Amino acid sequence: MELIITTLFGMEALVSKEVKKLGYEVTEVADGRVTFLGDESAIARCNLWIRCGERILIKMGEKKVTTFDELFDFTKSLPWKNWIGKNDSFPVKGYSLKSKLFSVPGCQSVIKKAIVRSLEGAYHQSYFPESGVLYQVEFSLMKDVLTLMIDTSGQPLHKRGYRRNSNQAPLKETIAAAIVTLSRFRYDGVFADPFSGSGTIPIEAGLIAKNIAPGLNRDFSAMYFPQIPKKIWRDAKTEAKSLIRNDSKLKILASDIDPNAVALTTHNAKLSGTFDFMEISQKDVADFNPPYPEGTIVCNPPYGERLLDEEACRLLYKQMGQVFRKKLPGWSAFILTPEEKFEDYYGKFSDKKRKLYNGMIKCNLFQYFPNK
Ligand SMILES: C[S@@+](CC[C@H](N)C(=O)[O-])C[C@H]1O[C@@H](n2cnc3c(N)ncnc32)[C@H](O)[C@@H]1O
Repeated sequence: MELIITTLFGMEALVSKEVKKLGYEVTEVADGRVTFLGDESAIARCNLWIRCGERILIKMGEKKVTTFDELFDFTKSLPWKNWIGKNDSFPVKGYSLKSKLFSVPGCQSVIKKAIVRSLEGAYHQSYFPESGVLYQVEFSLMKDVLTLMIDTSGQPLHKRGYRRNSNQAPLKETIAAAIVTLSRFRYDGVFADPFSGSGTIPIEAGLIAKNIAPGLNRDFSAMYFPQIPKKIWRDAKTEAKSLIRNDSKLKILASDIDPNAVALTTHNAKLSGTFDFMEISQKDVADFNPPYPEGTIVCNPPYGERLLDEEACRLLYKQMGQVFRKKLPGWSAFILTPEEKFEDYYGKFSDKKRKLYNGMIKCNLFQYFPNK
């Protein structure tokens, strides 16, 4: 089968690496999408293990289409009956970008009709109750190229299953996993997030260091697909549990100025199975001064407009520069913010920066290596 992982922009290379690490052959990396080859167990294993991608989808077909007739004929020609049963539900959603067929509702209804027609031929029935298993059909039309897919994840993969509460601006778990991965922190070292909020970043670091599969505590749509034997899911979960490392010496320092954030970080860390690594405290970043000569800071501090006014932002980033650069010269720091003037305020150009999108917000990951 061809499988597709959708990603946020900027995360494709990281997801491609994750897929290869799981042992699958990547066939294409495009904007927001990684395509690879896999079997039923790849669906289970990738849903359980992929940290930086949004969804795993089965690719049903791809073709250039510029008219509704072409859209209908191609969709109808695909083997929908291989997945969708007589009673199953198959809603259709998708998007169109830079394509002649730009009406999304129009495409949705043509695709739905074409799938119904294809299933009528297969099952010799004209009424579909759609009361059974959910097969969410997704389409994308990008520069007239239609891709038809079936979603296997259900809830997007950034939902790890531990988060019950949210704070003002939690970072998506997939981006947190990406920046934590890019930091290359040492699993036997010290890791810190002095703006921990609900704990997303420290929790992703803990999950990675312990090698806990991020999807171990949640369900996926494809768990209900009869085509994927239950044993495959059981085996994938057994494998994931057997790979958890309990010998990591990592120390995670999570702090925040807000006592509610500290309570949230504590709560979420306990639910995610990473609490045993954590030292959680209420602290202003100005007082952040851990007694370790080396370590890795990964954080997303508050930023202008939504959470802070510009002057407060400038002062906070200046403060961060003074604390991280002057008090902690042996530490590396990875700071995600949409603030374009970050380096000016912080007082130093980054050693490296990388563009990432936090939803629709364009951010930079400013990377500072130890100042030895
Ligand atoms: C953008 S949020 C971080 C969100 C977090 N990564 C998450 O996923 O939940 C910024 C956090 O910085 C905290 N904060 C603001 N000013 C601070 C300061 N001076 N020192 C420490 N924390 C501060 C806020 O309370 C807030 O929780």
